[in-house]
Amino acid sequence: MKFFIDTANLEQIKEAQALGILDGVTTNPSLMAKEGITGETNIINHYKEICELVDGDVSAEVISTDFDGMVREGEALAALNPQIVVKLPMIKDGVKACKYFSSKGIKTNVTLVFSVGQALLAAKAGATYVSPFLGRLDDISTDGMNLISEIRLVFDNYKFKTQILAASVRNTMHIVNCAKLGSDVMTGPLSAIEGLLKHPLTDSGLATFLADYQKGN
Ligand code: G3P
Repeated sequence: MKFFIDTANLEQIKEAQALGILDGVTTNPSLMAKEGITGETNIINHYKEICELVDGDVSAEVISTDFDGMVREGEALAALNPQIVVKLPMIKDGVKACKYFSSKGIKTNVTLVFSVGQALLAAKAGATYVSPFLGRLDDISTDGMNLISEIRLVFDNYKFKTQILAASVRNTMHIVNCAKLGSDVMTGPLSAIEGLLKHPLTDSGLATFLADYQKGN
């Protein structure tokens, strides 16, 4: 499973990259705003900086909600760097734009996916990635993880090449469960990724090893 970090925070991106496990970055307008990155020029420059920090795909979201606007914005974003993946909302014009970009060989990530039907449409339109938001489904007392497994089943049935990019990942167990269910990618916060490191028996075992080493010296 590929690991993407879901942030526009450069320090956190650097930290995940330094760990040696990072395959890409996802952003969205809310994550940009959280870092105080506003205005077209600043946002474009921020994408360029992120692309310099990592080797893999970097999702950059369009703001337009009409086909022509999405095409215009998406083409400008894709021209910034071959790492850029044009992130499109799961709406009618987003599906049309997805088909447009996929037929031109431009990578896409269809976002705000909350049902198998939406994922199926995105795959039919040739999306590179489809982003089911599992944490937000959990928030409304439904089973986000179930959506991942249902999309996996449908994509496998028809051998769709579209990759399942589990998004709105909030915690470490989300990551583990995504891996169990065969998600192709997960995107989550650094805290959830670092949570994978932790086990109390690792800590106590290491403390014992170090103490025993000291006894012999
Ligand atoms: O990748 C989508 C993600 O940023 C949404 O996460 O936590 O705002 O639901 P969240």
